[in-house]
Amino acid sequence: MKLINDIYKDRLSIFKQQKKNINKLWNINEQTAQLLYMLIKTKQPKNILEIGTSNGYSTFWISLAAEQFGAIIDTIEVDEARFKLAQKNLAGRNNVKLHFGKAERIIPKLNKQYDSVFIDANKADYINYIKLLINKLNDKAIIVADNVISHKESLQEYLDYIKSDSAFESMTLDIDSGLEISVFKIQ
Ligand SMILES: C[S@@+](CC[C@H](N)C(=O)[O-])C[C@H]1O[C@@H](n2cnc3c(N)ncnc32)[C@H](O)[C@@H]1O
Repeated sequence: MKLINDIYKDRLSIFKQQKKNINKLWNINEQTAQLLYMLIKTKQPKNILEIGTSNGYSTFWISLAAEQFGAIIDTIEVDEARFKLAQKNLAGRNNVKLHFGKAERIIPKLNKQYDSVFIDANKADYINYIKLLINKLNDKAIIVADNVISHKESLQEYLDYIKSDSAFESMTLDIDSGLEISVFKIQ
């Protein structure tokens, strides 16, 4: 990651400053960002969906990996101030499409099939997001859900579902706030 950190030093330092100075951005940690980058690079998805943009930090890392093979990221944010900040922070990232509003309202309008999804929004609603998404997932789509250890109780319904439904193979990764990594297979 040294190369990425060197090339995007200025942009990454803006994100670092914002995380320090602005409340409630809730950005993922660098380790999770780098893992997402590596997963996207390896998977080479065509269409990527992120639920919970905040100021665009995780989106930025996903976008760096995705541009290497022309993938597009749709990312959804409901908070206006964070959405506007993300618009600024992601200016010039041509593979990012920002959507403003509630994921529950926007997901049904996205006429695409996704190969990779990153869920990092309202914890109690992960279960609703995945149910809305189920018909929009390609075979072997990878779904990464954040905060499954830090917010285990709020996410229990999601975890029970994704770990027991035969359409998914799923594992919990104990890094940072905890990630649930799931692979979807069309039955
Ligand atoms: C943990 S933060 C996302 C952090 C971001 N992924 C990052 O690492 O930079 C969660 C974001 O989800 C947004 N959010 C919460 N509920 C949402 C919903 N129903 N639809 C869209 N965004 C939502 C919040 O406003 C918040 O900015």
